[in-house]
Amino acid sequence: MNTLHELQEQYKVVQGMNLNLNMQRGQPSDADFDLANPMLTIVDENDVVTPSGIALRNYPGGQTGLPEARELFATILGVRPAEMIVGNNASLKLMSNTLMWALLRGLKGSERPWVNESPKMIVTVPGYDRHFSLLDALGFELVSVAITPDGPDMDAVEALAASDPTIKGIMFVPTYSNPTGDTVSDETVQRLVAMKTAAPDFTIFADDAYRVHHLGDDPAKPLNLLRACEAAGNPDRVYLFGSTSKITFAGAGIGFMASSEANVAYLNKLTGFQSIGPNKIEQYRHVKFINSYPGGLEGLMRDHAANLRPKFEAVQEVLARELGDGRYATWTNPKGGYFVSLDTICPVADRVVELAKGAGVALTPAGATYPHKKDPNNSNIRLSPSRPPVAEVAQAMEVVALCVKIATLEYDAPG
Ligand SMILES: Cc1ncc(COP(=O)(O)O)c(C=O)c1O
Repeated sequence: MNTLHELQEQYKVVQGMNLNLNMQRGQPSDADFDLANPMLTIVDENDVVTPSGIALRNYPGGQTGLPEARELFATILGVRPAEMIVGNNASLKLMSNTLMWALLRGLKGSERPWVNESPKMIVTVPGYDRHFSLLDALGFELVSVAITPDGPDMDAVEALAASDPTIKGIMFVPTYSNPTGDTVSDETVQRLVAMKTAAPDFTIFADDAYRVHHLGDDPAKPLNLLRACEAAGNPDRVYLFGSTSKITFAGAGIGFMASSEANVAYLNKLTGFQSIGPNKIEQYRHVKFINSYPGGLEGLMRDHAANLRPKFEAVQEVLARELGDGRYATWTNPKGGYFVSLDTICPVADRVVELAKGAGVALTPAGATYPHKKDPNNSNIRLSPSRPPVAEVAQAMEVVALCVKIATLEYDAPG
């Protein structure tokens, strides 16, 4: 084992290399984007009317999305096309819109607008910073529960949901969670859909952003939350969300959501005041591209996995080699999604991020995976290997491992 002094000497050598690496951005790589380039020109003047008879250049026919798009994206969320709302470019927009209507009007089963109830929302930690900042901006009080390898800690969720009528729901990522990569177990799904809730309109906001983002040949197959809610006699309890931001183009993809037909009808009435309908041309571009891709959606996701897998393997290889003795950190080994979650043993996440920055490696800021950017243990670091080329991922991870060791030894032997 190296001494702190030896590690600091290594750090100085790395600093001299003037690296400029980034493991912070949960974005596709250019090679991923290249897979979808045909989409840029796939719609032309022969496509002004879709096979289902919808005129793309005019208003009518698209309030819940183009029929062809509802059919295609229903396969991602595992629901019926009639349960789909296909929107514009971002699932976050659909989430925020649903939450805003809930606050202003309540959801279908609500007795009153949520804003009148000082609403709280359960979130899982470590989790997705934009869930936290969105909910916070909308005025929700966030109640954190841990994410486990089986999904949200259900003992905690059940106790909270049963005890407090101002807890209006839970927002989490059911498949290959951001950042841990955890997927809900069947038992978690069954407990979520059947649990007793003090709020009659308790709602599950399931952000299934990584539902089809498998890295290997052993894809996660979580129970479908909408079907399970229906079977449990709570058909209106869940909203599912997803998008093609990490399937086609980030920020220029398609966001979509699903819920019971009754919820879709309720929400549609309200969103119909906001817009005559989404951009049907963009939706059709996606339909045409994905349906004509060799192997369809599965083929496209296999090609993304071929890009991503070596990067995730590089992360695991370096961490196991450099930190494998368990003295410095633990980390996840996801079977899909976009992230690896690392926890330092000592409370040094902020110092690791600082040291990495000093050596030319940008990491997600410490604390970002917790509400209000406050990690109570100062231990969690989200690693995002998707965007850089594999050689840069490997090089960045060597630096991360070095910084974890230095920060730990500094903590163990201060001064
Ligand atoms: C869990 C999760 N949900 C949503 C998003 C953003 O999706 P969109 O671009 O569809 O708004 C991300 C992006 O990182 C994410 O990790």
